[in-house]
Amino acid sequence: MLAWYRDMGIDAALADEPANWLEGGGATPGGNFRLGGMKPTIGMEQAPARADPQSRRDAPMPTTRPATRSPISPAAPAARQFPTAAPDAATMAAREIARSAATIDALYHALAGFQGCGLRATAKNLCFYRGNPHAPLMIVGEAPGREEDLEGKPFVGRAGQLLDKMLAAINLGEADVHITNIVYWRPPGNRTPTPQEAQICRPFLDRQMELVAPKVVLTLGGPATGAVLGVEGGIMKSRGRWREIEIAGRAVRAMPTLHPAYLLRTPAAKRLTWRDLLAVRAALAE
Ligand code: URA
Repeated sequence: MLAWYRDMGIDAALADEPANWLEGGGATPGGNFRLGGMKPTIGMEQAPARADPQSRRDAPMPTTRPATRSPISPAAPAARQFPTAAPDAATMAAREIARSAATIDALYHALAGFQGCGLRATAKNLCFYRGNPHAPLMIVGEAPGREEDLEGKPFVGRAGQLLDKMLAAINLGEADVHITNIVYWRPPGNRTPTPQEAQICRPFLDRQMELVAPKVVLTLGGPATGAVLGVEGGIMKSRGRWREIEIAGRAVRAMPTLHPAYLLRTPAAKRLTWRDLLAVRAALAE
């Protein structure tokens, strides 16, 4: 059974102990499930949720749960909040919150309190960025994976290690880059983020780009290229061609290239990315 879970991408527990949802009298995580007195919110948290699972166990029980429990479900379900509003409302809330952040640090705190993206319900940590808060090169990937989720930083797994090697090959280190993703929480089972999830996170990414104010943007893979540059069609067609995006009223050059995870599976494609990186290095030197 565990092997089947793993193969299906279920490789992380949401809580320390199992919860039997069949006992909940129709309560579901996204439905009428509520912690006593605490309403799901889509914007900033009224009272920040505590990350410590032990403290969740101390929280009031959901009102829909029967008083008696079976011996196989001794624990209350994790005290996670689920967005219940339409994605448009969540995007509007995100826009308002992101706009008011004056620094990268403030943006981090705004994201940490943002409840509008459903991905945070299953993720362990928020993955905001790694590198320099004001780097000349901003790199945007797809979504945090397992390692990133555990560490709370983008691109720290195998794909990230390859990315670092590729950057080192054009003489760029952590101080020269600002690395992030189009969504800030790991999608369950490493699936591709849905367009809605990307849309809800987008105001934060836009504000992040404004605050980082990079000279050049590099997008990794199809989903990031589609989301950031609005490019339709396959990454093989779009990679290697300069685009322009507007960041805070400034035209900024953007280069789409292949995702390092793809390069791990298809090493022969590294030469294509090498060409793209040489172009990026030249643009940074201009
Ligand atoms: N792949 C991504 O797109 N982003 C990460 O942070 C890690 C792997």
